[in-house]
Parts: sequence; C-alpha cells; structure tokens
Amino acid sequence: MSLKEKHSILVVDDEESMCEFLDIMLSKEGYDVDLASSGEEAFSILDQKRFDLVITDIRMKDIDGIDVLKKTKSVNPETIVILISAFATADTAVQAMKEGAYDYVPKPFDLSDFQALVKNALKSKSKAEVIEEDSRDNPYHFNRLIGESPEMRKVYDLIKRVAKTKSNILVSGESGTGKELVSRAIHEMSPKSKRPFVVISCAGIPENLIESELFGYKKGAFTGAVTDKEGLFDVADGGTVFLDEVGELSLPIQVKLLRVIQEKTFTAVGGVEEKHVDVRFISATNKNLEQEVIDGNFREDLYFRLNVIHIPLPPLRRREGDLPLLVEHFLKKCSEEQGKNIHKMSTYALGILHQYRFPGNVRELENIIERSVALETSNIILPESLTLSHFREREVEKRRRRFDIGPDGIDLDKVMAAIEKEYIFKALDLANGSRQKAARLLGINTRSLRYRMEKLGIKGG
Ligand SMILES: Nc1ncnc2c1ncn2[C@@H]1O[C@H](COP(=O)(O)OP(=O)(O)OP(=O)(O)O)[C@@H](O)[C@H]1O
Ligand SMILES: [Mg+2]
Repeated sequence: MSLKEKHSILVVDDEESMCEFLDIMLSKEGYDVDLASSGEEAFSILDQKRFDLVITDIRMKDIDGIDVLKKTKSVNPETIVILISAFATADTAVQAMKEGAYDYVPKPFDLSDFQALVKNALKSKSKAEVIEEDSRDNPYHFNRLIGESPEMRKVYDLIKRVAKTKSNILVSGESGTGKELVSRAIHEMSPKSKRPFVVISCAGIPENLIESELFGYKKGAFTGAVTDKEGLFDVADGGTVFLDEVGELSLPIQVKLLRVIQEKTFTAVGGVEEKHVDVRFISATNKNLEQEVIDGNFREDLYFRLNVIHIPLPPLRRREGDLPLLVEHFLKKCSEEQGKNIHKMSTYALGILHQYRFPGNVRELENIIERSVALETSNIILPESLTLSHFREREVEKRRRRFDIGPDGIDLDKVMAAIEKEYIFKALDLANGSRQKAARLLGINTRSLRYRMEKLGIKGG
C-alpha cells in the first residue's frame, strides 16, 4: 500500500447528524468515507468492502458498537476500530479494548483532538504495513531525549552546537525537566566522550567531606586518612564534571571551585603538590542563580565562569505537544519492565494529563505512568488508573467541569449570565459599592454596568 493512497473509513452511527458531521469532517481531510446508519447496515457493508478504519457509536438500537467491532475484526483483523459514546462506562471501554479496539472516545469530543486521533490511528497502520522505523532515525529522539516540540528542538540545536566546544555550560530548569539527561547528552557528543562523566551532587555531600571528596586527600591529612585517596577531580581528568544542584554550594567551597576553574589546578587535602586538571564543567540548577547572586548566596565571578553558555529547559506544561510521545515511550518502557501488555492510553485519560500542570515535569509523568501500568487491568490505560494526587485531581476535575457539556447540553445564556453576575458582585465588592469604580474594574462604562445590573436583577451599588 502506498502512503499516498486514500484511506477508507466507515462511520457507523444511528444518529444522522453525527454521521453527517463526521462525513463532512473526514472527507475534507481527504479520506474516503462510507456511512452506515445502523449496526445491520454496517454488517452488510463490511461484507462487501475493506476499510482501514471503522468509527462506530457504542449505543445503537439493534446491533451495538461492540458487535460492529467484533464483526470488523472477524472480516479483517487489520482494520482499526475507534468507538465513540456519550454513555460508555469504564466496563464497556475495557471490553472494547479487550476486543481489540484502538481507542474509545467520550462524546462530546474536541474536533481537532478527534482529527489528530484518526490521523495517528492511520499512521500507526501505515507504519506497520510499510516500514519498520529505525528508532535512531526517529525525529522524536535525540540521544535519550524525547520530544519534537519547537522548544525541545531548540534545546537539541544548542546541545549539538555546544558539544564540540570546551565552554562551561549551565543547564537550568524546574525539577524533572531533564537537566541531567541533557548534560549527559552533551558529554556523549563531545570530544571528551571517551573520558568519564563525573557527577558531583552539590547538595548531597556533607560540608565537611566535600573538599576531600572533590580533591582527594593525603595519608595522615586527618584522623582516618590512612592512605592517599584520589578525589573526583582526579577521576574526571580529561572528561566532564557535572555539578548537580550547583546553587547549593556553600560560599567557602565556591571559592575553592573558582580556583580549579581559573587555574585548572587543585591540591589534595593535606598535600602540597599542585595537580593539573583538564575538565569541562556542566552545572545544573533549578534555582534562579542570577537571583542567588543578587542575594549574595552565590559568587558572581563563579556564576560567570560556569554560565558561559546557558541552556534553559522548558517545563513540560509548556511543551504539551510532546505529551503523547512521552506517554507512549514510558508506557512501552514500564509495560516491558512490569511484564504487561499495555500499549496505549485512552484519549480520555490523555485529555486529563493535558490539563495537568506537572509540577514535577517529566519525572512526575514517568511516575504516574509507572503506577497506572501497575494498576491497570485492561490493555489500555483508562482514567481510573491515573493516580494524580488528590489535591491535583480536584484541580483538574474543576477545570474540566468548568467547560463541560453533559449529554443534555447546556444553556449558554444562563451560564454566561451567572458568570457575569459573579464578576459584577465581585467588582462592586472591591469598589465598596461605587458603580464608577466597579465599571472601571470590569473594563466597561457606567451605563453598560447599570444596564447589565438591571438585566440580571442586581440591586445595590
Ligand atoms: N525529554 C525527555 N525525554 C525522555 N525522558 C526524559 C526527558 N526529560 C526527562 N526525562 C526523564 O525524566 C527523569 C528526570 O530527568 P533528569 O534527572 O534529567 O531531570 P532533572 O532536571 O535533573 O531533575 P532534578 O531537578 O529533579 O534533578 C529521568 O528519568 C529522565 O530519563
Ligand atoms: Mg537532576
């Protein structure tokens, strides 16, 4: 099959307007669309024609969506099936997945999300049929980093450019954004890649040990120093030193480090001889180091030495487009590790993640997926097995509910009036009842405010 050939789609729904809507939408996208207004009709069409994709409603009068799914798979196991329903329970969804459905989508759905789902579903089919992709050529990957958002591409570009240089690099970003992964990537792509990548966790080593850890010590330098010992700088010679959480370094140690960077020499504790060292420094921080300098917690000269090139990493919530790729990656990894066969996350569950802020970024996403893989009993991650912390769940739920449209629809005028009323009350409150001030706070004129108050039956002010 050539990739350019039109994909064929069968839409099955006993609701005429839904069929029409999907017909228009999918034809516009360039697909070859057939329609069936009942399960029975779908059965007879499926007997005559092969489809790449079948989209079916779950609840229909005679033959339901699950039957259509089974029928489709019996005539051609390769055909992808997507189920849609306003009433699907978790049980139906689980059953659908067990029967081999690609996904189930709750109604109402977002148009562009649905288009993307169809596109991805068909892409996964073409990929399986046409080529086995080599992950090394996969544009989503760069070293062990995943993501193809413009923000991540910028990071890859920077890594490529700086890897070849000798300059010191500062990688900044919130916790879990991949600072260590990026630093390792730089090392691996640099001329120093054959030499060690030594991690110094600046927050982890006790203050009284840090000097001997970094520089080593001579026999007899202190009680317990029964032999000479090499320090981390000895080990790192010729390679890269990764200063993790560099903002945690105490001021006295900062002075010693500055000397190593400037003079490229150091002395073991209790020793006299100066040792020469050739290393590149990559530092990581989730603090605002510039602010630390202003506050007097971090030496300005050291800051400039370490921050020759700055690589800021974007938080996950600012590169939402990468979420599906990361989810897919971690699902595969965690399923393999736990010996499970979970290959997908339901659209609904992914929707929940899209609304989540991820304070712990990629690391947190990985933990969430690891837990959900452990909890999930079907072969697809359903919303029930996503355990975001309760506080956050509520936050997500609130946001979802704010713009939710149930099966009975909403009364937009009534909803808008309620919102308007809330804001007017709030503004009048803040303005201590002054209509003029309240109007200003709302960005409208006093006349408009008076009119609205009358319309909404608000007295006072
Ligand atoms: N772009 C990415 N692609 C794939 N995995 C990622 C990506 N970014 C981070 N990770 C994964 O997330 C986890 C955290 O990454 P890493 O340790 O590099 O973050 P960090 O910024 O150093 O976090 P912290 O500030 O908490 O030390 C690791 O398991 C890493 O493999
Ligand atoms: Mg880290």
